[in-house]
Amino acid sequence: MKLKDKVAFVTGAAQGIGKAVATALAKEGANIIVSDINLELASQTAKEIEGLGVKTLALKTNVADLADVESSIAEAAKVFGRIDILVNNAGITKDGLLIRMKKEDWDAVLSVNLTGVFNCTKAASTLMMKQRYGKIVNIASIVGQMGNFGQANYAASKAGVIGFTKTVARELASRNVTVNAVAPGFIQTAMTDKLTEDVKKKMMEQIPMARLGQPEDVASAVLFLSGPESDYVTGQVLAVNGGMYM
Ligand SMILES: NC(=O)c1ccc[n+]([C@@H]2O[C@H](COP(=O)([O-])OP(=O)(O)OC[C@H]3O[C@@H](n4cnc5c(N)ncnc54)[C@H](O)[C@@H]3O)[C@@H](O)[C@H]2O)c1
Repeated sequence: MKLKDKVAFVTGAAQGIGKAVATALAKEGANIIVSDINLELASQTAKEIEGLGVKTLALKTNVADLADVESSIAEAAKVFGRIDILVNNAGITKDGLLIRMKKEDWDAVLSVNLTGVFNCTKAASTLMMKQRYGKIVNIASIVGQMGNFGQANYAASKAGVIGFTKTVARELASRNVTVNAVAPGFIQTAMTDKLTEDVKKKMMEQIPMARLGQPEDVASAVLFLSGPESDYVTGQVLAVNGGMYM
């Protein structure tokens, strides 16, 4: 129980990687705020996690909306008294070749994946600085490190998350708040289920471990960066990609 009585706020936690992260943190004793734009699914996930013997709170939050984020963080702080861990996981894709990419698709991906991380980090870090304790973990992507055909918006957002992580790590280090990123490769979730068989086959050829990752593979890395074993680790990008990018 490495995280007993800690409080973790996980965005996009209703399903996929966010749900696996929330579950892994709960198994170590953390109380969980299951934050997602989809409240119905978030409530269902929160109920499942409660079965592990921790307290949960499901909140409807659109990470792209600063006022919404501020009220969710305030509500979480009111209920639990503190926030020790923030996992910025909510993310979307709107793929297309640059030449055909609509400005709305660029804006939508940047506002959830990058501005969303800014909004949540800004709101939670104020509390963490006062506490003189905090762990922030941002879910970036291999695509932010190496680029990907048809994902100019997504790659830019995730590369932005990496630059943001390193900067905020420097700014918050003296307050005992660590800020790190996890860069998953291709993980089996609703996000990758959308890809065509042909794209999946091409991807698989590039993965030395010859399998897609599971949400739990990412959750283990997040757990490390959320717990006491990483207290002297900050500003890092931990790749969880089966060797696809080294
Ligand atoms: N699946 C992969 O292969 C992969 C690889 C690298 C990085 N990632 C990143 O991991 C994170 C989770 O991805 P996933 O595969 O679990 O996706 P997913 O689509 O299964 O889950 C994303 C969750 O985020 C929520 N969400 C979407 N927009 C939101 C918003 N504006 N505010 C709050 N919540 C919102 C959704 O409701 C959903 O519950 C994302 O940041 C994604 O970019 C995924």
